Amino acid sequence: MKIKSYKQYKDDYKESIKNPEVFWANIAKEFTWRKKWDKVVEADFSKPDVKWFIGGKLNITENCLDRHLEKNGNKTAIIWEPNNPKEESRYITYKQLYHKVSAFANVLKNKGISKGDRVCLYMPMIPELAIAMLACARIGAVHSIVFAGFSASALASRINDSECKLLITANEVYRGTKPINLKAVCDEALENTPGIESVIVYRRTVEPTEMKEGRDTFWFDELQQIEDDYCPAVDMDSEDMLFILYTSGSTGTPKGMVHTCGGYMVGSTYTFQNVFQAKKDDVYWCTADIGWITGHSYIIYGPLASGATTVMFEGVPSYPDYGRFWEIVDKLKVTHFYTAPTAIRALAKQPLHLIEKHKLNSLKVLGSVGEPINEEAWHWYNDNIGKGTCPIVDTWWQTETGAIMISAMAGITPLRPTFATQPLPGVQPILLDENGKEVTDSPAEGSLAIKGAWPSMARTIYGNHQRYKETYFSAFPGYYFSGDGAYRDAMGNYRITGRMDDVIIVSGHNLGTAPIENVINEHEDIVECAIVGFPHDIKGNALYAYVTKYNDVTTDEDVLRKEINTLITKTIGAIAKLDKIQFVSGLPKTRSGKIMRRILRKIASNDAENLGDISTLLNPEVVEEIKENVLL
Ligand code: PRX
Repeated sequence: MKIKSYKQYKDDYKESIKNPEVFWANIAKEFTWRKKWDKVVEADFSKPDVKWFIGGKLNITENCLDRHLEKNGNKTAIIWEPNNPKEESRYITYKQLYHKVSAFANVLKNKGISKGDRVCLYMPMIPELAIAMLACARIGAVHSIVFAGFSASALASRINDSECKLLITANEVYRGTKPINLKAVCDEALENTPGIESVIVYRRTVEPTEMKEGRDTFWFDELQQIEDDYCPAVDMDSEDMLFILYTSGSTGTPKGMVHTCGGYMVGSTYTFQNVFQAKKDDVYWCTADIGWITGHSYIIYGPLASGATTVMFEGVPSYPDYGRFWEIVDKLKVTHFYTAPTAIRALAKQPLHLIEKHKLNSLKVLGSVGEPINEEAWHWYNDNIGKGTCPIVDTWWQTETGAIMISAMAGITPLRPTFATQPLPGVQPILLDENGKEVTDSPAEGSLAIKGAWPSMARTIYGNHQRYKETYFSAFPGYYFSGDGAYRDAMGNYRITGRMDDVIIVSGHNLGTAPIENVINEHEDIVECAIVGFPHDIKGNALYAYVTKYNDVTTDEDVLRKEINTLITKTIGAIAKLDKIQFVSGLPKTRSGKIMRRILRKIASNDAENLGDISTLLNPEVVEEIKENVLL
């Protein structure tokens, strides 16, 4: 499965496009299957209907756990690093993880959970999150992990959308010095989630926790009732659901992307091994939260199915100071370090002595994910962390793609700073012009789409296949449209230029503008608003809102600003808070009433010189007013 040279990459790539069935069958056979597939792939993007390893039976946890027991049972599977550096790290071997997962799988069964049931996980970065997700997979329950920074109402809407029966959470967690009472958020959400029958609470801190009789129980009490820490893995069809994970769209409610067992396992593991090129004794650390796809594929499933040692960090890069990441790298002898440009930019702002006190000499490979990495951040990362000797893999992919699509393979692919470089075998990226025509020459720029199916792609949006089709397969029929734009150089290297829709990536989090605008519009003093992104040193992009209020509103504008942000934090979460709110007398609109976001974006980005022809607008006069009062 592992590519060892650039020549082999080129050969494998060619083969994967020419004979995808043979190529993927050769990879898939390296996994443990309970029954081999009858057919490798059937894909029709017009429906869309995609199936891989058809007829195959497997359980992903047998691949992540059981198959390592004989030779690697005592190898560390997970190293957990707590928020508080004074607390002890936890080392969990494959064998221990196997028993813990099996025991908790039996708890789930006791709770009446069985194959196909949805279970929501709203948990901090503790090993029990990994245990709970694998326990779900063990018995065929579908996990839906909600990032534990989301608000009660965001949690409730996700629970309801995926019709979860059980919620697993923790009482409280510390992130830096800040305690976060997860159970209280859950309690508020649970007022509006009629489908939830029971709640299991992991006691992470000693704080008293309110429990609702008949509904809530503690993790440890549930384990006490288990007689056996053996739980047979349930037979799963390749195309059975493995998990649902929500991602923001440019409009409407978040989309519950559905990933299935066989293709996802093969895709996430194959890409993990080839992109990172980790060896037997390496220590691999991805700093993402498991609440995002990066954590699913590259903290848990890819590394564990590969028998690697994966690090889970509970804390934040700034606590107790901005040297924490580097302290952990030295302490755990991390060899592979995978983080996001927003973290790199925040760390680059800190004094160098926070790095210089650490050796960082265990590092071999660095990774980046989540948004385009700018030149300055790339060089800072390369010089100060990699000391010029660690390849940087800039990995482009999405919640929808399940696994890395375009990336260098460490030590194999020639690098070009700020370029994700080349597609992995099995992935055919193409650039399309405005007319949907493929641009074959290079260099070129266009909409980034993918030709043909790949194993780890999402199969649908939970409960809304039509939306899946419209979002990804309608703009350019016959292709998967990523929503991103890209540039391809003469050598065939890709650089992602950013989103082409109204999704703004703030600190690596996808935020749809429409859902935030809807929240603002709920404020009784507000008529309407428009949100755009503007460049931000650390976050990559930040949110700028143009807001019109009713004429008779006398509330102080700063008070209104606070109220708006409180409303957003309560409804969506603190990650969607606005950096700037400008009150305007009107929004620039076309004659058909469409808000001209392009103009607003330019003004917010301090680029108002060249707005183009605005005379055709319905209300060109507001543009002058907005420019005059812009908050820069
Ligand atoms: O715009 C691209 C950006 O993140 C989007 C996907 O976000 P999400 O589903 O949350 O998954 C993030 C982690 C895989 C993409 O459409 N993106 C992701 N990786 C990169 C990137 N943009 C540029 N370079 C990347 N390496």
